[in-house]
Amino acid sequence: MPTPSTTSLILLTGATGYIGGRLLSVLESAGHRVRCVTRRPEALQSCVEPTTEVVSGNVLDGDSLTGTMDGVEIAYYMVHSMGSKGDFEEQDRRAAHNFGAEARRAGVGRIIYLGGLGATSEELSPHLRSRQEVAEVLRASGVQVVEFRASIVIGSGSLSFEMIRSLVERLPVMVTPRWVNVIAQPIAIGDLLQYLSAALDLKTDDHAIFEIGGPDAVSYGDLMREYARQRGLKRLMIPVPLLTPRLSSLWLGLVTPLYARIGRKLIDSIRHPTVVRDDSARQTFPHIRPQGVREAIASALGNEDRECAATHWADAYQRKSRDA
Ligand SMILES: NC(=O)c1ccc[n+]([C@@H]2O[C@H](COP(=O)([O-])OP(=O)(O)OC[C@H]3O[C@@H](n4cnc5c(N)ncnc54)[C@H](OP(=O)(O)O)[C@@H]3O)[C@@H](O)[C@H]2O)c1
Repeated sequence: MPTPSTTSLILLTGATGYIGGRLLSVLESAGHRVRCVTRRPEALQSCVEPTTEVVSGNVLDGDSLTGTMDGVEIAYYMVHSMGSKGDFEEQDRRAAHNFGAEARRAGVGRIIYLGGLGATSEELSPHLRSRQEVAEVLRASGVQVVEFRASIVIGSGSLSFEMIRSLVERLPVMVTPRWVNVIAQPIAIGDLLQYLSAALDLKTDDHAIFEIGGPDAVSYGDLMREYARQRGLKRLMIPVPLLTPRLSSLWLGLVTPLYARIGRKLIDSIRHPTVVRDDSARQTFPHIRPQGVREAIASALGNEDRECAATHWADAYQRKSRDA
């Protein structure tokens, strides 16, 4: 595929969400022409550059996508249905099918998708299984797919980071279920955005899958301790290994009501390590040097004031809850 110039049209979904919203700023700053497809054009219109188009489209409704990808060279798929009350696996499968079909019809050259890390050989949670199934459905459309797989994204506004923050900020003494010991390989939002934008220039005609993460493999408990350390909070963690994922997600809902539905699905997905096993991302994008966990948390806390007007996962989620 030829390298896209700044005059090529790039389609972005999920621009009202956390990662899509941050990616929109990066693409606009680099001078790209962007068309955002969203269920809520009115929520986005006032936040975009004059060169960015905002059009209405719901990936669960194939007809609403017709024409939205005409003239588009590369499309970003940054959508998930985890906040929905219904069967999110079925919805995400249907949404990916609709999106792939319209991309194919419109002659889109590449879809760039961000899914989740997790070895396919292990028994995956419904959430991670669904994230990988979405990539398969997109590939089945016949359009080339560049898939990134990431674990926790560290950044102010990211669902997984905000859940950790919420627990540490609220609970001086925390009973810690088994999932707190599961190992993850977090990535800082800035590094993730570099990978997502570098994928525009990737020279390949084949599908590609890149596992991405920072240099540190740490447990969720380690992340909580490091967050507490940087915030100057004294926290006591008491391990309760017998707390089942079900009970522990109910507990999460009581402690942090905002996370009741979506956090449960997320916690339920923390069964196996989410670490990078394939280093092709490092080889293909050697100029990207991901930050370690300490630095990433410090950046997230340091950027707080600057980013207060930027995207937060709950903006998308609360709208979804109202609409559901
Ligand atoms: N955040 C993380 O820690 C993390 C880690 C690894 C991978 N990822 C992946 O990154 C991607 C984006 O996640 P995020 O954290 O940015 O999620 P998010 O903040 O919850 O945003 C989700 C986005 O999807 C859009 N959306 C949902 N259903 C839609 C539909 N039917 N039609 C059109 N748009 C729809 C929402 O738009 P509305 O305004 O219309 O609701 C929103 O913009 C996902 O694939 C996720 O699996 C995230």
